[in-house]
Amino acid sequence: MHKTVRKVLRAVADYDPDYFDMYADAAEAMFARLYVERILRHASAAGIRQPATLLEAGCQAGRLVVPFARAGFRVTGIDTSGFALRRAREHAKAAGVDAAFIQGDLLAVLRRQPAPQFDVVVCAEVVYLSPQHRQMLEALAAAVRPGGLLCVSHRPKMYYLLEALRQYDVTSATDVLRRGEGPFRDSAYYNWQTPDELRALYRSLGLRCLAVHPIDRLAWLAQVDVKRLSEPQRAQWVQWELELPDDTAGDCARYLLIVAERPAESHA
Ligand SMILES: C[S@@+](CC[C@H](N)C(=O)[O-])C[C@H]1O[C@@H](n2cnc3c(N)ncnc32)[C@H](O)[C@@H]1O
Repeated sequence: MHKTVRKVLRAVADYDPDYFDMYADAAEAMFARLYVERILRHASAAGIRQPATLLEAGCQAGRLVVPFARAGFRVTGIDTSGFALRRAREHAKAAGVDAAFIQGDLLAVLRRQPAPQFDVVVCAEVVYLSPQHRQMLEALAAAVRPGGLLCVSHRPKMYYLLEALRQYDVTSATDVLRRGEGPFRDSAYYNWQTPDELRALYRSLGLRCLAVHPIDRLAWLAQVDVKRLSEPQRAQWVQWELELPDDTAGDCARYLLIVAERPAESHA
């Protein structure tokens, strides 16, 4: 459907049949569990107890907002898309959980907030799409209270390297190795990092990197459509992913989740 028609339908009828609702998609909901399980374990290890506050920046339809709210966090979701937030509100209501939502660009919203205030700040599958990723990370880090956690997913360099090689596109593969951001094949802009580059990046933000977790190794590497699995098989798959040592297949995953702590004495 044409972009303008979709925009009008969204504004007038609150309807978009082509919208990819990550909360409602079975595969995305499964991958959400990989984020949520890991972040909950780190929060618990850091002594963060409910009702703690959690910000999700770029929350779309609430794929992570709802499970974190269900786990007892007081969740705030930010997104530029009013349509996404209406979906998120509906999903939260249907799940019987409360969450607050703010529409706007995360940089603009966070610059208006009295910082730092959140026990946990999550930003999943957002920063790799933006040339302003450095400024975004600074704003996200500043929103974490001292002793709190910043959890952000990034695209590993290996992801684009292997995606290029899968297409026999050696020129793009060479570009990926040479650069850390820019166009990739037919898409306008992405950024990508190695685990070591990410650790250095978070150090430069004054944060202590606690973990670099691969998110979705098996389905992506094996090119499996997890929607074809039954729900018990998907539950088993999540356990495999969580139990595999983090260094299995290195940074060959769709995303890398960085969990970093803002030191208690930090004034970043
Ligand atoms: C791929 S979705 C990720 C959704 C969610 N984080 C999750 O993991 O389920 C990216 C979302 O980020 C939002 N987004 C992108 N850039 C943003 C920005 N600068 N400020 C706020 N939201 C943004 C988009 O509107 C979209 O809904």
